[in-house]
Amino acid sequence: MSTLIVLGTQWGDEGKGKVVHYLAEQADYIVRYQGGNNAGHTLIHKNKPFVLHLIPSGILFPDRYCLITNGVVIDPKALREEIFLLRKTKIPVKGRFFISEQAHVMLPYHKLIDGILEEGDIKIGTTKRGIGPCYADKVKRIGIRVIDYLEKDVFIDLLEKNVLEKAPILIKNNVDIVKLKKEILKDREELAKFIKPFVANTGFMIEEAMNRNKKILFESAQGTLLDLDFGTYPYVTSSNPIAGGVCVGAGIGPTHIKNVLGVVKAYTTRVGEGPFTVELFDQTGDFLREKGKEYGATTGRPRRCGWFDAVVVRHSVRVSGIKHLILTKLDCMEDIKTIKICVAYKYKGKIYKEFPASRTIQKYATPVYEHMPGFNGQIKGITDFKKLPVNAQRYVKRLEQLVGAPIDLISLGRKREETIEVNKKVKWF
Ligand code: IMO
Ligand code: MG
Repeated sequence: MSTLIVLGTQWGDEGKGKVVHYLAEQADYIVRYQGGNNAGHTLIHKNKPFVLHLIPSGILFPDRYCLITNGVVIDPKALREEIFLLRKTKIPVKGRFFISEQAHVMLPYHKLIDGILEEGDIKIGTTKRGIGPCYADKVKRIGIRVIDYLEKDVFIDLLEKNVLEKAPILIKNNVDIVKLKKEILKDREELAKFIKPFVANTGFMIEEAMNRNKKILFESAQGTLLDLDFGTYPYVTSSNPIAGGVCVGAGIGPTHIKNVLGVVKAYTTRVGEGPFTVELFDQTGDFLREKGKEYGATTGRPRRCGWFDAVVVRHSVRVSGIKHLILTKLDCMEDIKTIKICVAYKYKGKIYKEFPASRTIQKYATPVYEHMPGFNGQIKGITDFKKLPVNAQRYVKRLEQLVGAPIDLISLGRKREETIEVNKKVKWF
């Protein structure tokens, strides 16, 4: 059995795209198990930049199988667009890309409601893709799955019930529900035909692949602090990016998971609303944003930036049982005079070393910082850990100590060769 989970340990945007692309070369199957097109994975393949939202980045390598499993929410239109984009760049998808018949379908009213709710009392700062409302329907047991979308009569009946249920909020916001329904039905004709060849029992495909000892990489979207259960609730996404999410989201038993890898950025960023203890409002924050090109790949929003938060990453290591860490964007910290690391939170005189559940503490705690001398000069291009400036090496070692997992790979850029294999003995699969 060769299964590996790659997940985000902060608030998303840790550089999972590059890491998955790096490891996909060794994998046979690449599987997305949660989230939807709220994700934005930026990577460079054969010197060309790609941004993928829904389809796993493994698709860029020929011969790999890519699956979107039941835990993902799929906007059929967005999926079609992404497939068109891949075809344009001569990347074949037929016969090697599949979506689960049990995944839930995101429809235009989900997007509308996401937008409407964002104007209301609790602003989450969502990507307005319809993610939350679609998962809400799933939990309410009124959702529409891919298999339902393909069966016209079943779909018409479910659509009728769904629109009726949502009528009050839609009508209040001047949505013409008759027109909306008509459009959805019309779109379905083409979209259902388009997606049909990709629809499969992905859980079964994974089992077969495991039996043949294939290497399977499970790729998360978002990050632990956006996890519905373990993140900064309610400022989270509506799925479970943590390792446990793979069991439910892809339909495999916990005994089948062999390795868990966390992707962690050398500093911290967050998009959208919600608590962010280490946030910087000064020049260093601006420096990190510009140097790290910290602008959303999905929404283009500037990302909030801050120092490394060891409380957050330690929490992620624990909830997902992370065995290895991959550190990204260390090169974006070149030439900072003094680096700070948040080692605990302080609220009303009390020190918190574990990530607190209380909204009040999350919001008002101040960071307890440890200071370290920074490193100068360009580190991009270095491929040997020992060749890094001593202070950069010390920073990496200190992070490891604080979060409780080894940093076995360091990424110093989007290109795959801009990587340091710290521990060459690691077998990812
Ligand atoms: P990747 O995969 C960063 C954030 C949104 C918002 C919250 C809820 O690129 O790391 P949603 O639309 O999911 O209901 O929004 O989650 N968010 C992300 N932030 N990277 C992502 O994905 C994100 N996906 C959602 O900004 O705060
Ligand atoms: Mg993103």
